[in-house]
Amino acid sequence: MTVNFIIAAAFFIATLLFIYGLKRMASPVTAPSGIRVAGWGMVLAVAASFLYAFDVREAAADNLGMNLFLALVALGIGVGWAWRSGKKVAMTGMPQMVALYNGMGGGAAAAIAAVELYSGNAQHYGFAVTVLALLGGLIGAVALSGSIVAWAKLDGRLNKTIRFGAQQLVNGGLLAFAVLLSIYVLAVGDGGTPDMAITLFFLVSLVLGILLTTPIGGADMPVVISLYNAFTGLAVAFEGFVLQNPAMIIAGTVVGSAGTLLTFLMAKAMNRSVSNVIFSNFGAEDDGGSDIEGSMKSVEASDAAINMYYGSRVIIVPGYGLAVAQAQHKLYEFVKLLQKQGVDVSFAIHPVAGRMPGHMNVLLAEAGIPYDIIHDLEDINEEFPLADAALVIGANDVVNPAARSNTSSPIYGMPILNVDQAQQAFVVKRGQGKGYSGVENELFFADNTSMVYGDAQKVMVEMIEAIKSLG
Ligand code: TAP
Repeated sequence: MTVNFIIAAAFFIATLLFIYGLKRMASPVTAPSGIRVAGWGMVLAVAASFLYAFDVREAAADNLGMNLFLALVALGIGVGWAWRSGKKVAMTGMPQMVALYNGMGGGAAAAIAAVELYSGNAQHYGFAVTVLALLGGLIGAVALSGSIVAWAKLDGRLNKTIRFGAQQLVNGGLLAFAVLLSIYVLAVGDGGTPDMAITLFFLVSLVLGILLTTPIGGADMPVVISLYNAFTGLAVAFEGFVLQNPAMIIAGTVVGSAGTLLTFLMAKAMNRSVSNVIFSNFGAEDDGGSDIEGSMKSVEASDAAINMYYGSRVIIVPGYGLAVAQAQHKLYEFVKLLQKQGVDVSFAIHPVAGRMPGHMNVLLAEAGIPYDIIHDLEDINEEFPLADAALVIGANDVVNPAARSNTSSPIYGMPILNVDQAQQAFVVKRGQGKGYSGVENELFFADNTSMVYGDAQKVMVEMIEAIKSLG
């Protein structure tokens, strides 16, 4: 059995594991094992890549020992760092961690492009390989610097939305310059491209990634991260063609298509186009107050709890605030008390509740809430009029009726959960804070809505105590 055969077989098995793992990620029940399966696929692909050491070109063979040592050191640092940060990251910190790791994928693809272009390998293998190396280099570098900006914004390290006149023009100019440099590299071909041109090409691409991302509001970052995730996949696939590495081509294509689909699904769930997310200033500014009629009425947590306890049907709508307060465990404790009393409790999940896809599903799963009482928007929305009470906990935009009726609202057209149609709505939030879109919520002023002010965790404790005190 040759080394080449073992490498090819390992890549084939790794590919099967990626695809099977991804399929299992489609449901929250099978997702944990899906992640493990895909993870083992990645371990196999990385291990198989080391076997290339036995089948290297002569020039590389001279430095084989040193190269292997450096690769192992890099692997050790990467694994150690990822293990540590993955273990201690909070659920609310997940989007920025994804942004950072995603950026590194783009950076790795750009680094491969750099090695192949500086060494002249790509040019040596001809026009098509050079085009692919350049494309992967450009997209990978944009994904790297753009993802770092996205991470800094989400992590609160960069609070400014940096914008200047003619920004789109400058970005267009930078892209045109990168394309011109690529044409120059292609024109010189195997004749030895000056290092300066390649360096300039990468610098321009990195600056483009920064300038594309800095004007985007922090709250739109999850969509941007998903888009850069698709970029990274594409860059890795291009570089996979350059290195003739099938695992990279397949994994890159899978990531590229999954990232593209996710980006469009997120934009659709917000009723916005991807270009609107990237080029508009959504959610960055206040809507300047509202002319909503009525007033907000507040009730004590205990009164709200007892009302629900004596009802027969309660629908719970979790949102971003639940994740911030980490109140999911207390919420489930409260739900179990209601269920013990015979109340029919269900959860209604909006596709973009929280700050990342599946945020609420993961949060509820973490607390052990059974999947059969968790429903998607389209499955439960008709049932709100049948509910005695809807409990909105840390959600805002996803229950704003303005999305249905107010054509001038920035969230007009976004599908929402019909909490306003329940007999009674209780909204748990800390104060008058607006949602991510920055618009006032008509639901909070409705006659059948009562506000329960306080941190979600604290309110849930009070609700549990109120029920327990009933004996
Ligand atoms: P939001 O509209 O952001 O509202 C969250 C509410 O939670 C706030 O009004 C806040 O009010 C409250 N809150 C914050 N901390 C709290 C705490 N400790 N205890 C109790 N309440 C707390 O959330 P949503 O309804 O989940 O909507 C998500 C939004 O994010 C949508 O507009 C969506 O388009 C956007 N978005 C989502 C995604 C994905 S993929 N999920 C991606 C990009 C954008 P107070 O300050 O008054 O407490």
